[in-house]
Amino acid sequence: MASREVGIALLGVGIVGGAVARTITEQGDVIEARTGIRLVVRRALARSRERVVQAGLPPEVATTEIEEVVGDERVDVVVEAMGGEEPAATYLRRSLEAGKHVVTANKEALAKNFAELAAAARASGRALLFEASVGGGIPLMASLRQILADNRVTRIRGIVNGTTNYILTQMAERRTAYAEALREAQRLGYAEPDPTADVEGYDAAYKLAILASLAAGRHIRPEQVDRTGITGVTPEQVAEARARGGAIKLIAGAELDGEEWRLRVAPEFVPGDHLLAHVRLNFNAVEITGDRVGPVVLYGQGAGPLPTASAIVSDILDAARFGAALTPHIVPQMSRT
Ligand code: HSE
Repeated sequence: MASREVGIALLGVGIVGGAVARTITEQGDVIEARTGIRLVVRRALARSRERVVQAGLPPEVATTEIEEVVGDERVDVVVEAMGGEEPAATYLRRSLEAGKHVVTANKEALAKNFAELAAAARASGRALLFEASVGGGIPLMASLRQILADNRVTRIRGIVNGTTNYILTQMAERRTAYAEALREAQRLGYAEPDPTADVEGYDAAYKLAILASLAAGRHIRPEQVDRTGITGVTPEQVAEARARGGAIKLIAGAELDGEEWRLRVAPEFVPGDHLLAHVRLNFNAVEITGDRVGPVVLYGQGAGPLPTASAIVSDILDAARFGAALTPHIVPQMSRT
């Protein structure tokens, strides 16, 4: 089989971006043998050249200028793993407008700008893919796409934040203090640069808004999520839940009520006979209910560099093979008067 080269630009070479670079280096031959695609990193936007070299990339691909990325004709797919809304959202839009496929892990930028980014991708006939933005390595978007082919999704419910799930698990099973468990989650590369996004439920709200937007086919904004984090959960509550045979979990739920979606992120007691009570550490699980297929549960590592990089690399290959075909249709939200 003749191979073709696909040029990649990485925006951000931190924990996730670095893992993507390493995956491409280590798995490049296997990927090429399976798909006929040779992935080549041609640009890496990072604060310092050192980071780029630490990720095992040649120093000459390093840049600090987005212009050098969007203006580089050898770049086919831009992979964004910077996090935060700006400048990431602007870079994503610019990349699409410049005719690049875009793969992002950035739930905040996507949740806040979903309709605009999907429109930019469709206008330029390019892919906008984001498997890694929700549920880390779990093929959630692929499954949701498949379910949505002939179902009306009426309910989404699950655990979508690895950091808080790790903290709650360690508090329950080892009686670890909250602050120490959070430090461990940071050390393991699960937490956001500012872990407030995790522990106050913002990260879960972004992810829920993305899932609900796909189910609804219109942009559901993160502000529509009724959000409570885990900072108010006490060690006593965690211990009591365990003594009752269940667990306190940060549950993200979206339910179709008539034509309206009701969205909520909050700590809840989950009884021991429910599957979600047994989702431990950095794992996530999401139950998607369609009107024809019924409930479907997806489970796997929701946070961590390798699972996240795995989802990103799979998106890069999908972008290279299918182009705009997998870009979702997300219409802007109707204005409320
Ligand atoms: N901070 C996120 C989490 C990373 O803990 O789930 C994965 O999106």
